[in-house]
Amino acid sequence: MDKFIIKGPTPLKGTIPISGSKNAALPIMAAALLADDVVTITNIPRLKDIYTFNNVIRVLGAKVDFDEDQNKITIDPTTVGHLEAPYDLVRKMRASFYMLGALVGKHGSAKVSLPGGCAWGPRPVDLHLKGMEAMGIDISLEKGYVIAKADETLKGGKFRLEPSSVGATVNLLLASVLKAEEFVIENAAREPDVVQLCRVLTQMGADIEGIGTDTLRIRKVDSLSGAEISNDPDRIELGTFMIAGAMIPGSDLTLTGGNPEHLGEFTNKLRKTGARIEVEEDTIRVKAPDQLKPVSIKAEIYPGFPTDLQAQWATMLTQAEGDSKVTDNVYFDRFSYVPELVRLGGELDVEKNTVHISGKTPLTGASVMSTDLRASVSLVLAAMAAENTTEVLRIYHLDRGYESLEKKLNAVGAHLKRVDD
Ligand code: UD1
Repeated sequence: MDKFIIKGPTPLKGTIPISGSKNAALPIMAAALLADDVVTITNIPRLKDIYTFNNVIRVLGAKVDFDEDQNKITIDPTTVGHLEAPYDLVRKMRASFYMLGALVGKHGSAKVSLPGGCAWGPRPVDLHLKGMEAMGIDISLEKGYVIAKADETLKGGKFRLEPSSVGATVNLLLASVLKAEEFVIENAAREPDVVQLCRVLTQMGADIEGIGTDTLRIRKVDSLSGAEISNDPDRIELGTFMIAGAMIPGSDLTLTGGNPEHLGEFTNKLRKTGARIEVEEDTIRVKAPDQLKPVSIKAEIYPGFPTDLQAQWATMLTQAEGDSKVTDNVYFDRFSYVPELVRLGGELDVEKNTVHISGKTPLTGASVMSTDLRASVSLVLAAMAAENTTEVLRIYHLDRGYESLEKKLNAVGAHLKRVDD
């Protein structure tokens, strides 16, 4: 299993290009299965999750060609014939559960494994299933699989998501666009990934009203055409590197090809730490302040502070002078990174869904390990700010969600070495 050996502290200076978004790509790759023709998507990152998703799509019978040099995927959905996503693939990645909406939405039948456990607490799919039932889809559970069946046309209806869920909104959109006479999703997720999916579906011919709002009204169309789509940049990668630029003393980072508007209230919060941020179109420059100020945040659904950036933020706050808090109101126990940061010298204490941070504490290298994607990248941030050498174990999590991480960071002055353990 690969690990990183990281030497710190190193100021980060230079330019990092932002890759295409993983979480935005997966829904549109699933949407491609609804089309009657070939769909091509550019700005697709070379990530393990994308390769896994390609395999899920191939198992169904679709043809997938990933031109890695061009970051371009071509999906031919016309050969799909096997309407089942097996446990082996779904357990590797929760987003494979999007196959449920895509298959039942296009073919009227699907058998998809329940996603199973995950590293940061229970992540149910009850809303996906109840929403589909409200639409008129017949749902049953059998030996860990969800079996969905739908008539050619469904009456539809109305379903309120409580809480608002990205995954459930995506699955209900995929299931309804070709099937439901009229289906209304209330309290729908408004995350940029969902907005992009709605736009793509509309480009393919779908009828969706209320895009970008929390009420989506979907009316059935008879077919969806192929399309050429450019995927959004990765907002979480952008936010992670913005934190790196603010956190590590002496840093001056320029991030190109990103979209800070997709980060909700994040950028303004980062300004409050004293970080100097200049935005010009898709170029964002972040300069570290002489001394970071402690700025507490609460992760909320979009446009609130993204839960996928709270671990990185708490890591940065170990270097701010004073006490602060990070609360996660989306996922209540997403704090597996905390004991590892404590091993590096941080003073952090978890109470319910809040971590209390006392700064500033010097960080010193140690061996650390993490159990999920965002926790892992937080340990990389901490290691770049720490004295001496830090070993970050189990970096396969990072390969799921950060394209060429060590290449990008080493190009701006970091010292990351990948070693096969
Ligand atoms: C997606 C993102 C993930 C991000 C999360 C929140 C992908 C592949 N993953 O995950 O990186 O952290 O959004 O922005 O895009 N819930 C239920 N029942 C359900 C579904 C969700 O109670 O059926 C709850 C969850 O427990 C959570 C909240 O809804 O408290 C939001 O979760 P959701 O938006 O569904 O997250 P994901 O789509 O799984």
